[in-house]
Amino acid sequence: MDKEHKLLERMTDWYSGDPARIQHFIKVYTFAKEIAYGEGLDEAQTELIGAAALVHDIGIKIAEEKYGRCEGPLQEKEGAPEAEKMLLETGYPADVAKRVGYLVGHHHTYTDIDGIDYQILVESDFLVNLFEDKSEEKTIRSVLRKIFVTGTGRNLCRTMFGIKDEIWISPLYRGRPEDVSGRTPREIAVYDLLDKLNIAYERVDHEVTPSIESCHGVDKKLDIHICKNLFLCNRQKTDFYLLLMPGEKPFRTKDLSKQLGCARLSFADAEHMEQYLGIHPGAVSIMGLMNDTGNHVRLLVDREVLKTEYIGFHPCVNTSSLKAKSSDIFEKFLPAVGHEMTVVEL
Ligand SMILES: [Fe+2]
Repeated sequence: MDKEHKLLERMTDWYSGDPARIQHFIKVYTFAKEIAYGEGLDEAQTELIGAAALVHDIGIKIAEEKYGRCEGPLQEKEGAPEAEKMLLETGYPADVAKRVGYLVGHHHTYTDIDGIDYQILVESDFLVNLFEDKSEEKTIRSVLRKIFVTGTGRNLCRTMFGIKDEIWISPLYRGRPEDVSGRTPREIAVYDLLDKLNIAYERVDHEVTPSIESCHGVDKKLDIHICKNLFLCNRQKTDFYLLLMPGEKPFRTKDLSKQLGCARLSFADAEHMEQYLGIHPGAVSIMGLMNDTGNHVRLLVDREVLKTEYIGFHPCVNTSSLKAKSSDIFEKFLPAVGHEMTVVEL
């Protein structure tokens, strides 16, 4: 029998007569392995995470026997040495036993998560506890925001509890990111240009927004209204347009075509968006005009958008959103990128 199965057996014995505890750690163990797999961790890390999940609550029994209660700090204190001991006895290497002891000794502390193994253990424990505690949706949303970091853990949580619109959003920042490593050149180019033009902006990073509801969280944080960005073209695919209009307003292609005096417009394809605006679908924004040096795309702006003091837009990627003064964008940015706008009424 390999050591992981041996450990599972030892823990089952440890909580003999207490099926709720046994079912608890087996669930946490399964979720922990699932997240480790989803995050692409290697075999050694996955093994360590599995072991930590199996023994994570080992301290409850000792705390209950010793003090008649088992709150977090007591479990952590009593559990850490016992976990390390049990791992050594089942054949785990000393360094793994030590790290697992550390994790058991900290798994109720969420302020200094110092590694992916720690993070995954905490997320797996929450996945199970939120269910076992019959947590309200409000609590689940708050935990999603404050605790969950891994994509796999977040997806598991959202799927399991049916929370579709909750995405991770960073705090509000002023200006460009301090550290731009890991960001695409096209995103960095947006910050460079805005800074060069002395345009002030606020910024949040966030997960990809899969639906319009999930954009609301971003809007709320930036304190702006959604602005729809539509990339359109004529039937012959010779004329291209970027239309900015209020998010809640319905788009009627007939109205627009009539005002422009052209045949009916339709949505342009991703290939042309990439070619002219240097943007993937989902990230389409007025910032893309900086990549349209050949002036292939004509900007159309609904009059209502011009009336708002601030405007929100993606910096050419759909994992960040910016807020700047509308006047700065239309009076400084547009001339700088050699584009004019046509005001329309929809
Ligand atoms: Fe637990």
